[in-house]
Amino acid sequence: MPDDAASNRLIVVSNRLPVTVSRRFDDEFKMSSGGLVSALSGCKKQMDFTWIGWLGIEIPEADHEHVTNRLRDEYSCQPVFLPDSVADKYYNGFANEMLWPLFHYHPGEMNFDETNWSAYRQANAMFAQVVNSQVKSGDMVWVQDYHLMLLPMMLRGLIEKSDIGEGTHKELDRLHRGIDIHDPRNDTTNDTKLGVKIGWFLHTPFPSSEIYRILPVRREILLGILHCDLVGFHTYDYARHFLSSCTRIMGLSALPNGVQFGDRFVHCGTFPIGIEPSQFIETIQKPNVIKRIESLKKRFEGVKIICGVDRLDYIKGVPQKLHALEVFLHQHPEWIGKVCLVQLAIPSRGGVEEYQTLRARVNELVGRINGRFGTVEFMPIHFMHKSLSFDELSALYAISDACLVSSTRDGMNLVSYEYISTQCENHGVMILSEFAGAAQSFHGSLIVNPWNIAEMANAIHEAVTMGPDERADKHSKLFKYVSKYTSSFWGTSFVSELKRIKYSHETKDED
Ligand code: G6P
Repeated sequence: MPDDAASNRLIVVSNRLPVTVSRRFDDEFKMSSGGLVSALSGCKKQMDFTWIGWLGIEIPEADHEHVTNRLRDEYSCQPVFLPDSVADKYYNGFANEMLWPLFHYHPGEMNFDETNWSAYRQANAMFAQVVNSQVKSGDMVWVQDYHLMLLPMMLRGLIEKSDIGEGTHKELDRLHRGIDIHDPRNDTTNDTKLGVKIGWFLHTPFPSSEIYRILPVRREILLGILHCDLVGFHTYDYARHFLSSCTRIMGLSALPNGVQFGDRFVHCGTFPIGIEPSQFIETIQKPNVIKRIESLKKRFEGVKIICGVDRLDYIKGVPQKLHALEVFLHQHPEWIGKVCLVQLAIPSRGGVEEYQTLRARVNELVGRINGRFGTVEFMPIHFMHKSLSFDELSALYAISDACLVSSTRDGMNLVSYEYISTQCENHGVMILSEFAGAAQSFHGSLIVNPWNIAEMANAIHEAVTMGPDERADKHSKLFKYVSKYTSSFWGTSFVSELKRIKYSHETKDED
């Protein structure tokens, strides 16, 4: 397809839509302010834009039309309606009990179940149908994350039909076997769409091929992704792991910038995500937030605050962080009463057993450490299992002398970016796990191995005793990085690259 026939349309597909609706969905629609929303705001202004995803709850069939119309007219969104029976096994079961632990090097938490796999195929096929109903020749489709790894292949099957080749047809037949879905490849009325480019971005790590190969359906998942024109990762290492999985498991030949799959060259690149620091900078200048910061500073006068902000997830290394504080206080009793960890644990994926077990473990540890070092006036750990408003979260970051991120694996970790954005005056110290994607570029933070508790305890000591010049110097390096690699930079970089590369059937000898 000639380049000038390409449309200026972008379809983003993610598991969740950026809009939440209450169970009384008739009047309660709310746009969320997540990272992806600000990342895509630039593209939204420049292009014709549609966002496709699941609403997170089951909507009764009688209301589908009304909900679809409102989402389309008011939010440029198109919903995928998943029944709870499919959603639970697809989202909790396969995505979060299999792919999530696997991709974060937690095989102990993995649970492979055929019915979950079947629901994952079914949900991806339902997404593919909705995307197919929206897509036109020349559009770009950008698929997000590990929930939708079969979607690129299923979508190719729908939009390119006979062009996809016999091998892909056979694989698709296998994926569709046993799932309850109408296959529009059989519809003769459906036109083939030309020149649709598909991109996919993974927000988690892609693990070493030695871990990835544990996955019982490792070929199927790779095949799903190999039907993209561009695949993106946060770091060079994740991209390298993906390419070596393609070589070792699929026997494909890879180059550093992509992999040849049949007549398609699947471009592979590194696109580190970020945040919009201005949102935090502006928030901590709001009068109500300034007031709140002052009152919190008064409340914690004479005490160094270390903040921890994590979804309560086993990849975040919260128990390791608590142990490190315990060792620090044991080794430096002069700091008892003078250092406090304010740990916000945002509730997450409560439907998955491993998250419930973690919650009990963390509660027990917090109780034990507070019991050991607490006094009548003082507790070393302030623990909250909830979400905070954006104002309150910004105030917490702003008053903290250090931030401790102890993830045992993390795709990027944007908490570290958020904290740095609030530290233009205080120059608080960032203690960051070497296993977070951010560690690769966060020169100026104290990098720790979260499994080495003594090292983390030493880093806490270093952070609370660091002099102002060193803190300012470290902060300035970090702030420069955070200000350059913003979320909108990420969004526009990926989309420009997808735009730039030629439609796959023409790319055999390109780049
Ligand atoms: C990670 C994933 C996202 C996901 C987020 C929150 O960052 O990469 O895709 O949205 O966690 O998890 P949840 O399961 O609540 O969507």
